Amino acid sequence: MAVRHELRFLLNSEAVALGDVRPDETLLDFLRLRRSLRGTKEGCAEGDCGACTVLVGRLAGDGLVYEGVNACIRFMGSLDGCHVVTVEHLKGEAGGLHPVQQAMVDCHGSQCGFCTPGFVMSLYALWMRSPSPSDREIETALQGNLCRCTGYEAIMRAARTISSYADAGNDVLAAERADVIATLRTLRDGSRVEIGQGKDRLIVPASVDDLAAVLEAEPHARIVAGSTDVGLWVTKFMREITPAVFIGGLEALRSISENDRVVTIGAGVSYTDARRALASDIPALGELIDRIGGDQVRNMGTIGGNIANGSPIGDTPPPLIALGATLTLRKGDARRTIALEDFFVDYGKQDRAPGEFVEAVHVPLPQPGAHFAAYKITKRRDEDITAALGAFNLVVRDGVVASIRIAYGGMAATPKRARAVEAALTGKPWTMDTVEAAMARFGEDYAPISDMRASAEYRMLAGRNLLKRFFIETTGTGKPFTIKRYEVA
Ligand code: FES
Ligand code: FES
Repeated sequence: MAVRHELRFLLNSEAVALGDVRPDETLLDFLRLRRSLRGTKEGCAEGDCGACTVLVGRLAGDGLVYEGVNACIRFMGSLDGCHVVTVEHLKGEAGGLHPVQQAMVDCHGSQCGFCTPGFVMSLYALWMRSPSPSDREIETALQGNLCRCTGYEAIMRAARTISSYADAGNDVLAAERADVIATLRTLRDGSRVEIGQGKDRLIVPASVDDLAAVLEAEPHARIVAGSTDVGLWVTKFMREITPAVFIGGLEALRSISENDRVVTIGAGVSYTDARRALASDIPALGELIDRIGGDQVRNMGTIGGNIANGSPIGDTPPPLIALGATLTLRKGDARRTIALEDFFVDYGKQDRAPGEFVEAVHVPLPQPGAHFAAYKITKRRDEDITAALGAFNLVVRDGVVASIRIAYGGMAATPKRARAVEAALTGKPWTMDTVEAAMARFGEDYAPISDMRASAEYRMLAGRNLLKRFFIETTGTGKPFTIKRYEVA
């Protein structure tokens, strides 16, 4: 195995080779402290405010994909072979303001200006993929950008008008595209990257087989995929993450395939890509993914990471358990497949041996005619952490519950099935009487805790009521109200 001792990537127009980088060095610190590229701001340092938004371009198949990411929680080790684009790279014709910047100026989308570079980068990413976006698309693209000054409507106006300034097809990144693809291909030399010693080691495996070998040799290494959680361990808790093994660039872990109505998602597939693959067959899952973080977090965070870190309030395990998902775990060349619900053993404890890693998750699509729903309860609709989340997968035949799988997050020490509730429903008529009898069984399945997101009593009441809501939605006996977007007069 060839080993290289430097990271290689493109920063705007400059090829960078970096041999001195710590595993916990963030892209934001690198840009601001080592390169004096201070257009990228630090607000929250936890992936919430979007002031640090930059674009990262990566090769995907024959093409090149640019995505907005949070530089504050993006580690340098994840950037090998990528193109980092900061706000300093933007320019308009004759070197003037870029169309996105000009639209922000003309529509008064900036006041104190602190958030503005982040908004500009998010709008830039949106403009490149959707030059004439709907208001819904704009709002979704800006979920991860906060502004304390403008009230947002001026920024919305700017977003609607960008294409009147220029054609996205003639933009600087479009013009550079062929050259960037060629350069990034030359950076892919098939080597493993290893940098640092002792407490400051980082490793970027060359392939999934190489990852398996690295983890056999270093069974307690920290696997870092999207770093939307691990990033906060560093920026908020000052924890060490060494040796850190960065897997986000492993193309084979980003694959998605379907066979016999089972979708197999590689552990490195981002929320954004998973949504693309699953939302048409499971719309409720698409809507749920739209409420995970902001666009930047969804571009970085992975389904595999959300599972592997074992949080009781991860957003994807409950719906995946309700769908009957299984996991492939790998250690060396050995693989095993287990039900996802069995992976979560206890708080902070998963069924994963040292040196073993989640390779893929297999998601059965709902049976034709099945009802599937996932409800996320938060204090704020967008970009908030879950208090409780219930997911339901129901098949009714002749008015009787033929099968039902229910799983909740935020109600126990792990994401967990509601087996007593399921037993109270299965084989019974799908009626309000049956549902109310089943609601009384929640205490057998769950004993939620009180914390800053919700009290135990609230969680239990809300959890029960989600089952009632699901009944009402599936039978059309009422009209539950869902805020899809905030209307602007
Ligand atoms: Fe707030 Fe990065 S500084 S998201
Ligand atoms: Fe001041 Fe947005 S313009 S924070």
